[in-house]
Amino acid sequence: MAPVLGITGWVYRNAYSRFFGGYDFAITPFIKSSKGRPSTLWDIRPENNDVRFNIVPQVLDRDADNFVPLARSIFDLGYDTVNWNLGCPLPMVRKKGRGSGMLPLPHEIVSFLEKVMPNMPNKLSIKVRLGSESATDLVKLLPLLNDVPLKEIIIHPRTGKQMYTGEVDLDAFEDAISVTKHKIVYSGDINSVKTFKMLSERFSSVSGWMLGRGGITNPFLPEEIKGFPQSTDQEKLDRFLAFHDEVFLGYQKELSGPGHLIGKMKEVWRYWADAFEGGNRLLFKITRTKTAEKYRATVSDFFGKKPKLRIEMNGLKLKKLSIQP
Ligand SMILES: Cc1cc2nc3c(=O)[nH]c(=O)nc-3n(C[C@H](O)[C@H](O)[C@H](O)COP(=O)(O)O)c2cc1C
Repeated sequence: MAPVLGITGWVYRNAYSRFFGGYDFAITPFIKSSKGRPSTLWDIRPENNDVRFNIVPQVLDRDADNFVPLARSIFDLGYDTVNWNLGCPLPMVRKKGRGSGMLPLPHEIVSFLEKVMPNMPNKLSIKVRLGSESATDLVKLLPLLNDVPLKEIIIHPRTGKQMYTGEVDLDAFEDAISVTKHKIVYSGDINSVKTFKMLSERFSSVSGWMLGRGGITNPFLPEEIKGFPQSTDQEKLDRFLAFHDEVFLGYQKELSGPGHLIGKMKEVWRYWADAFEGGNRLLFKITRTKTAEKYRATVSDFFGKKPKLRIEMNGLKLKKLSIQP
């Protein structure tokens, strides 16, 4: 499960794990170090997390003196691996030379790793893009990392500048993986079994596959990729609704007030809307909802009419994603 800030936090992960299988591990949305304030670790506190897959907390920072104490606190909570975010494309983050903004500085990355790795008890994996502005940053960086004992490298083959637009650059991904000795996980635009098959046939050396937006829109997709038995549409609808209710109840407990709650559900429905015929109309209705009761009635009415799912195994075409098999 890819980290998707705002969506794949503990409420979503717990609910997902209750109703679906298919994921082996989840990288959490990034945690920023803030001088060890306990609220920073809320998303990964063991008492908040009840899932059947491994969790790898992700940290966004470029200062080794911040990173190491945070990695230690994460270890003390029971996590043996930390992921370092070198992919965040947000302009504010990139400008400060963090996330993908650090990718044009390979020697600073190596020096950061030399400082943190001997001083943290956890293993380290990294999540990168092809570069910040240029898609050639990563091919220059990777040979320098071959002797660094990283657990794995997760690559989202876009530049930071691209954000989430345009195509994933599979040729640049191929160039990058040809110069690394590390285990590679691919992340980007996997939105159907067909896309997964195309990618896994082309990149047979890749050891893991990460699903973000495609797995949110179609929560059955990880199971389909793993070849779990298929459910009927009615079973899928029932499971989707039960999952929805669990997410809703989780956020109702976590967030204060209907504005925040409905705002959060709207964020999730931006993805889920694509899974149903009439989903966009529902999303529009949800945006006009002011109370939890009205929200629940609106969703219940929608499911009561047995909406048609648009997530058949090979059929899902997500408008925000770019690979078309
Ligand atoms: C709204 C949003 C938030 C994201 N948050 C994170 C994050 O916190 N850390 C990270 O490494 N990647 C983050 N990503 C990137 C995803 O993990 C993933 O690499 C990217 O979306 C491509 O995969 P996908 O097409 O399967 O979504 C985010 C992506 C989106 C769309």
